[in-house]
Amino acid sequence: MFDKYSRNINYLRLSITDRCNLRCKYCMPDGCGMVGHEDILSYEEFLRLVRLFTQAGVEHVRVTGGEPLVRKGAAEFVRALKAVPGVKKVSLTTNGTLLGKYGEALAAAGLDSVNISLDTTDPALAREITGSDGVVDAVRESLALMRSLGVPVKLNAVLLAETAGTVPSLARFAEEGVPVRFIELMPMGVGKYGRGYDPDLALEDLRRIWPDLHPVDAHIGSGPAKYYASEALAAPIGFIDAVSHRFCASCNRVRLTSRGFLKPCLCFDEGADLRALLRSGAGDGDTLDAIKLTVFNKPRQHCFDTPQNMTESRLMSQIGG
Ligand code: 5AD
Ligand code: SF4
Repeated sequence: MFDKYSRNINYLRLSITDRCNLRCKYCMPDGCGMVGHEDILSYEEFLRLVRLFTQAGVEHVRVTGGEPLVRKGAAEFVRALKAVPGVKKVSLTTNGTLLGKYGEALAAAGLDSVNISLDTTDPALAREITGSDGVVDAVRESLALMRSLGVPVKLNAVLLAETAGTVPSLARFAEEGVPVRFIELMPMGVGKYGRGYDPDLALEDLRRIWPDLHPVDAHIGSGPAKYYASEALAAPIGFIDAVSHRFCASCNRVRLTSRGFLKPCLCFDEGADLRALLRSGAGDGDTLDAIKLTVFNKPRQHCFDTPQNMTESRLMSQIGG
């Protein structure tokens, strides 16, 4: 499915819940409020939409949240997604704390890969950021579990001013063969008020430890990360610099919120209310037309550098990263 700037949109991110068991301070420090179950798309509704998205060319589906694993039946949903004709890859973005409970079921369901979010290796800092104890240990255990189950894992860390000192120790996961990606803090939702850490400075920090870090043309997953490799690292280190190095020209994705709103760009609140369409009894043909039209009109680029032009007021937990 091509948009009007000839970008091939083949990657769909599904936020299946905006709830989370953590309270990351740049995401949802005050919790997620109450959303009625009826507001959230049922798995059947998601699957009906995914069937239409695949007819329009989507091949990779990522399940996100909030924290997707707080929604009951997430592993069965992954299994159902894998069975949709045209879906070539199903991945998951999670904070990792519930993989001990659901990791085996997810692997058995055919999950192709998992991205675990961890912003620091320091337990006290992690507590300050997420509001919970034990996150770092839980993530280490989850990582080992998923790898033992044969599911490829990547680690995602948002670059925050207060965690700058732990960037090198996060990067050490790459010594063990886990790709680590550093994500620039985006001015989305509460992220507008936090202080990020400059990705270029983070790269300088890493080069003091691994001076041979050099750009490589690695394509890991469907994302825009720019990767660097070192002889001493078994996996590359990536940077996702959405704000300072705009990569909108090669954007391949759209997002569906848990309330069934199709979002073609992070920055803007425009899109299509597919839930309203489905629940008003629209047929597949009309729904597919709405999907194609919304994707065709995907904005050319984000406006994080001029946040006053942003029209999106949803929290990241309602969008799924
Ligand atoms: N900027 C960058 N990344 C963010 N995330 C949540 N809020 C922001 C933000 N403002 C990240 C989470 C997780 C992913 C789903 O999105 O840390 O890694
Ligand atoms: Fe939960 Fe992720 Fe938001 Fe943290 S960033 S509160 S783990 S949804």
